[in-house]
Amino acid sequence: MRPLSEAVSQVQMPDLEKVYNDLENFARAVQGVTGLEILEEWRRKLLGRKSGSLARAMRHLGDMDAELRKTLGQALNRAKPAVEETIALKKAQLEAYKASRPAVDVTMPGRQPALGRVHPITRAAREMIEIFGRLGFEVVEGPEVEDEWHNFVALNIPPEHPARDPLDNYYLDDRLLLRTQTSTVQIRVMENRPPPVRIIAPGRVYRPETVDAGHSNMFHQLEGLWVEQGVTFADLKGVLSMFARAFFGADVRTRFLPSYFPFTEPSAEFYVSCLLCRGKGCPACKGSGWMEVAGCGMVDPNVFEAVGYDAEEVTGFAFGFGIERPAMLKYGINDIRLLFENDLRFLRQF
Ligand code: DAH
Repeated sequence: MRPLSEAVSQVQMPDLEKVYNDLENFARAVQGVTGLEILEEWRRKLLGRKSGSLARAMRHLGDMDAELRKTLGQALNRAKPAVEETIALKKAQLEAYKASRPAVDVTMPGRQPALGRVHPITRAAREMIEIFGRLGFEVVEGPEVEDEWHNFVALNIPPEHPARDPLDNYYLDDRLLLRTQTSTVQIRVMENRPPPVRIIAPGRVYRPETVDAGHSNMFHQLEGLWVEQGVTFADLKGVLSMFARAFFGADVRTRFLPSYFPFTEPSAEFYVSCLLCRGKGCPACKGSGWMEVAGCGMVDPNVFEAVGYDAEEVTGFAFGFGIERPAMLKYGINDIRLLFENDLRFLRQF
């Protein structure tokens, strides 16, 4: 910057006040210039051929006497390259900075993370868990690879029972199989703690089924068990009816039909009024107006005996919901396969 200020000071004469002021302002401002456009403005203002300050001052010289013209002319001639050099330096500096500046603009708004969604099965399961949680049920999990004791024997399912047919089960060897029901968890819980118990057990189960719109060879159940002194069938009806209203809506109707399960006595099937036709009868409920959503009953004394509970002292009820069916009813899904194909176009709707 030395040559510039030197050149400027030489221009400091009464007749050249304008150009002197311009040059001085430039000398003061040039360090702080941050944009090439502003630098170009300065260049035009000072060095512009027609209306630049220097060119104008030069034209002025013609009116002066020879002596003065010479001195001032020399001063202006020195100022010009000094300004040019200063501008060139600054320009190089700005361009170098621009080139070295990081490619990332930290002032840009951030990128939206791609948020996932809860799978409809998980969503339904969580909602069921939440409702039973309010009724005091604790969540317990059990293994998907089970032995015959927990899947059958302790549940009062004898060896000759058709459910134990090797063709109806995924046996892994002659002792282990993929569990066909979450009722196994009832046994595991009661084996490991004394009454009272009030648990639910959500999880996957497996059956060799031909897969179609209504069947899958892997699906989910939510098991429930409440054992305590004085638990009755009325409690079972109360709990399941309350659950149905909370899960399906306050206007849903419910019914219990007598049924048979080896591990409960008496046993029942639990139905809710068809959510699609509201009970009038439609293809989904096969015209009946009802849909079965759970099996249930009072725990069979043989089961209590298998786990070492005293059937004279405690009673209990158990139930097993499928999770797919209620989820499909609630979210309007008409093909169970959609739940397992992982097609994002389907999953993104939830
Ligand atoms: N485990 C039965 C099934 O998979 C469902 C079931 C029925 C569970 C009655 C229960 C019950 O706990 O009491 O079909």
